[in-house]
Amino acid sequence: MLPNPGGLLAIEHIRYRDGFIDGLWKVLKLRSVRIESERRGGKTSVLRRMKAKPLENWLAVYQDVSQVQTPTEFADRLVRDLKPVRGFWNKTLNGLAGAFQLLSSFKAFGFEFGFSRAGSWKAKTENIIRHVLARQPNRKLVLLFDELPTMIKNIADKKPEGPKGAMEILDLLQTLRKTDPVGHRLRMVFAGSVGLHHVLRALQAEGHVNQSVNDMDPVPLPPLGKADTTSLARELIVNSGLNAPDLATVCDTIASTTGGFPFFVHSVVDRMGKEDRPVTPATVAEVVRQFLTDPLDPWNLNWFLSRIDSYYPEEGPAVRAVLDRLATSDSPVPLADLVAAAVGAGMTPDRAPSLIGWLALDHYVTQTLDGPYDFQFPILRRWWRLKRTL
Ligand SMILES: Nc1ncnc2c1ncn2[C@@H]1O[C@H](COP(=O)(O)OP(=O)(O)O)[C@@H](O)[C@H]1O
Ligand SMILES: [Mg+2]
Repeated sequence: MLPNPGGLLAIEHIRYRDGFIDGLWKVLKLRSVRIESERRGGKTSVLRRMKAKPLENWLAVYQDVSQVQTPTEFADRLVRDLKPVRGFWNKTLNGLAGAFQLLSSFKAFGFEFGFSRAGSWKAKTENIIRHVLARQPNRKLVLLFDELPTMIKNIADKKPEGPKGAMEILDLLQTLRKTDPVGHRLRMVFAGSVGLHHVLRALQAEGHVNQSVNDMDPVPLPPLGKADTTSLARELIVNSGLNAPDLATVCDTIASTTGGFPFFVHSVVDRMGKEDRPVTPATVAEVVRQFLTDPLDPWNLNWFLSRIDSYYPEEGPAVRAVLDRLATSDSPVPLADLVAAAVGAGMTPDRAPSLIGWLALDHYVTQTLDGPYDFQFPILRRWWRLKRTL
């Protein structure tokens, strides 16, 4: 594999995630899951590899729904992408015998068409899923929805369906997951870099209160561990034919300065390949610093700052104060100190603790085992300090 930051990787180049993926399949045998990580954390790569190598007796169907703007579009795309699955069985079911088999499998499956208004997006969605399951009586179906929170937000923001349509999709999908006989052979993965909790909060503000994803396990996609990051860096450097006299130390430096995000590792090696100088720990450290301070922001880190005002329209000053407090401390910070920072920025003391909880959901902070809080990712902490000149 060659450095390919942000590119569409060949399936065999999606590396170091098989342990994570095995864990996902284990959960999927029982329940559906939500994967949340920051942009370019590797979600799409994980889903594409799951699709290419599903567990035995599973059908995995991948859909990038980030561009979907209406419930009808959602249903139409699902039908389009599930049709090939159905088509394969159509071919095998030619003739009377096939028709009989099909009929009995429908009956055995025990569903009825026309559950929702015929021709509606709900009926289309239900029917295609029921259809596929009926024709594949020995398999489970997992729908891998990439960037689903973005789709829900798009639909909620758009007339005529608006928040009602967005909520109805979530409700319908949950009903399908929870209702026998479909439910026990249907699983879903929602992946997204926009926190679904924010999208749901906005829908709640419009009066749509329900628990439409509480049956799904939240599964964070972590950065790579040290050994895997080092190994990825080594592979990329060697394959690029770079001159790295002390390869082991260089790879360690890449691992520690990129925090294990494979996208950053690809970026750093890619940039080193464009420069006419040997790869050393010092040149790597310099390149990482350039990425962190580049005004063009190739790593999209400004998003961590700019999204605060849209995610937290009223609490922006408090969020920045909390993160400033964390960024300037040499050790993890007790909750009481973070609350004090938020209160100092104008927040009422009763609401401040829940704000810290939200910041954890947004991957800014994490609670250490013995209680105090820290930035979840050291690279983010470093960037925050540079950006805010702290
Ligand atoms: N498992 C992996 N092995 C190697 N590189 C990876 C892996 N996952 C992600 N990458 C790198 O990170 C980039 C972004 O990954 P992607 O899966 O598109 O993230 P996301 O969907 O979370 O935005 C890829 O283009 C690639 O450069
Ligand atoms: Mg993606």
